[in-house]
Amino acid sequence: MNEEPNKIKVTIDGITVEVNPGIPIVEAARQIGGASVPPTMCYYSKLEGSGGRCRTCLVEVTKGSEKDPRPMPKLVPACRTNVMDGMEVKVLTSERVIQAVQGVTEFLLINHPLDCPICDQAGECKLQDLAYEHGLEKTRSEFPRRTFQSDDLGPYIKLNMNRCILCARCVLVANQLTDQRNQGILFRGDHAEISTYLSKAIENDFSGNMIDVCPVGALTDRTARFKSRVWFTEPVNATCTCEKCSGRAVLWMKGDTIIRVTARKDAYNEVEEFICNDCRFERKDLKYWNIEGPAHISDHSVISVNHYELPLPKNDPHYKIGNFKAKTLE
Ligand code: SF4
Ligand code: FES
Repeated sequence: MNEEPNKIKVTIDGITVEVNPGIPIVEAARQIGGASVPPTMCYYSKLEGSGGRCRTCLVEVTKGSEKDPRPMPKLVPACRTNVMDGMEVKVLTSERVIQAVQGVTEFLLINHPLDCPICDQAGECKLQDLAYEHGLEKTRSEFPRRTFQSDDLGPYIKLNMNRCILCARCVLVANQLTDQRNQGILFRGDHAEISTYLSKAIENDFSGNMIDVCPVGALTDRTARFKSRVWFTEPVNATCTCEKCSGRAVLWMKGDTIIRVTARKDAYNEVEEFICNDCRFERKDLKYWNIEGPAHISDHSVISVNHYELPLPKNDPHYKIGNFKAKTLE
């Protein structure tokens, strides 16, 4: 019989929560929710070994534990530092953390192009959110940005290396969801780039998940490229009968047209269940899908503008897939 581990107490921004021992601080913060959850550009709870690369999740540990209450002298990454009983952490309430996130954001943007107006990820991009919340108005860098030619990774995925922040999530997807490891980050420092050997992993049925885990617009769906700004589409939960995956997906609709298909994501923008390439790229017709209803979109997201969550009754004369009535009108 599996026994529940003894819970330990952790306090984050003055809120105490009981959590399982051995989890990273970021997971404890997610149990509290709200603004005390550090941003995570490389950590991904569904991918083993993720985290520790971007430093956006830095937090201040003001008390190490009940046994050893000394504060940690430096800020620590919340995704790679495990909780201890009695630990006290500051995120939102620490001026040092706020300054550190501003600094990390500035570094992440040093080479990132300002091409949001033409990037398919705009509206869903975590770097865009970070830049709005913590970015400077002007760059202080005098050096030219590094640039790359965009690359097709097989028929379905576009790599825009200019936008990549080297979080390595796509490498972990290729490593953990496909059966061969022909991919990785080549070179070091500001020469580092995602190897186009990723294209060798593209034939695998689950390679499209690289698009969903990429926090920026470096990997985008070639079948949906430039078809619509994301905020003009209506996300709808749908299921299909699939032998390779659960068939649980989100259809991004414009009228009756499926613009793209993605996996369902949780409140932290992480995929709930990885979906196969057939569902993602080949089922762009409603005949494959059973519509469950509008997908939930966080109020924080630009996509929530004009997004309505309650479907019109089927006998309503205005009923149409992708046409929903606002909650406030109920
Ligand atoms: S392509 Fe995207 S997922 Fe891959 S390392 Fe770059 S930013 Fe991360
Ligand atoms: S999310 Fe913790 S270092 Fe990137």
